[in-house]
Amino acid sequence: MPPLATNEMNFLIEKSIYIREKFLIKNLFDIIEYIFVKLVPKISQKNIILNYFQLYSDGSIFSIVRQEKSKIYQKSKENIIKEIDKNSFAIVGNSENDIVEKGKNYFLKQEYLFNTHVVKPQNRNLKISMNEFLYNDNCNYGSFDLKTTINCKHLQEILIKNKVIKIAKKYLLSENIFINSINTMLSKPSNKRHGVLKLHRDHDSMNSITFFLYWTETDRYNGSTALLPGSHIFKHDKRFSKVYTDNISLKYLEGKPGTIYAVDTWAWHKGNENITSPRLVTWIRLSSAKSQVYFKDKNYIYEKELNNYLKSLSE
Ligand SMILES: [Fe+2]
Repeated sequence: MPPLATNEMNFLIEKSIYIREKFLIKNLFDIIEYIFVKLVPKISQKNIILNYFQLYSDGSIFSIVRQEKSKIYQKSKENIIKEIDKNSFAIVGNSENDIVEKGKNYFLKQEYLFNTHVVKPQNRNLKISMNEFLYNDNCNYGSFDLKTTINCKHLQEILIKNKVIKIAKKYLLSENIFINSINTMLSKPSNKRHGVLKLHRDHDSMNSITFFLYWTETDRYNGSTALLPGSHIFKHDKRFSKVYTDNISLKYLEGKPGTIYAVDTWAWHKGNENITSPRLVTWIRLSSAKSQVYFKDKNYIYEKELNNYLKSLSE
């Protein structure tokens, strides 16, 4: 998608994404989406109209684009790309204890964070001291603001060393990619349940990949995300999560501190209610197209910072 002109334009797109959910408009968009789903195998992913329309997709386009890409990956010589295509995830690498410890302490020594899963301009009033967050039983997911995350030199060093941008470009089959979101999240035992514990797909974009860096030990008994391997190419059906029951195919994305996962989060997945100690993780969401999240979370306000950060990781 070409760069958008101004923040006013971005604001209009943000509002129009919400309007898409209104009753009659929704029906109209569903019809257009039906046509696009038929067209996707025949048109380029770079098509500008497709790039804009996918912002309003209910998800059908996301699945069909991934099914088409999967045919291309079959011929790929890159094992990691084949693995992501097969399982919806792959371990990209591990980092040395020393730098991981420093990065973890950088975040845990912050005086404040936000008492929310993701910081958005509209929830900046949820700022809370680290101590209060850690000792209040009603707090479950906290996160740091974008600038705190991108100013973490240890994170930047780890992402560069593990060549995440190179991997992303290969998986996205594009040289022209964006950071739609970057977030560092601290989760901990709590009395409250969060919506991400339910099986869901992340509505990022029609062509996206997310890297997760674990700063703390993560396993099935302590916070690891559970995912259905290969489900990123399942046809989109919102009823799936309602009829689904846990079974042996569910895979936990476990790892020691420093583990980096590449995950196609269009795969069905869910957070983990088993958590025994605070878990710190950073995600970076990359895409060849802007995502709904980019607009809804108003990340476009940080367009310059995100572009500069992407550039710094690519060098
Ligand atoms: Fe998710």
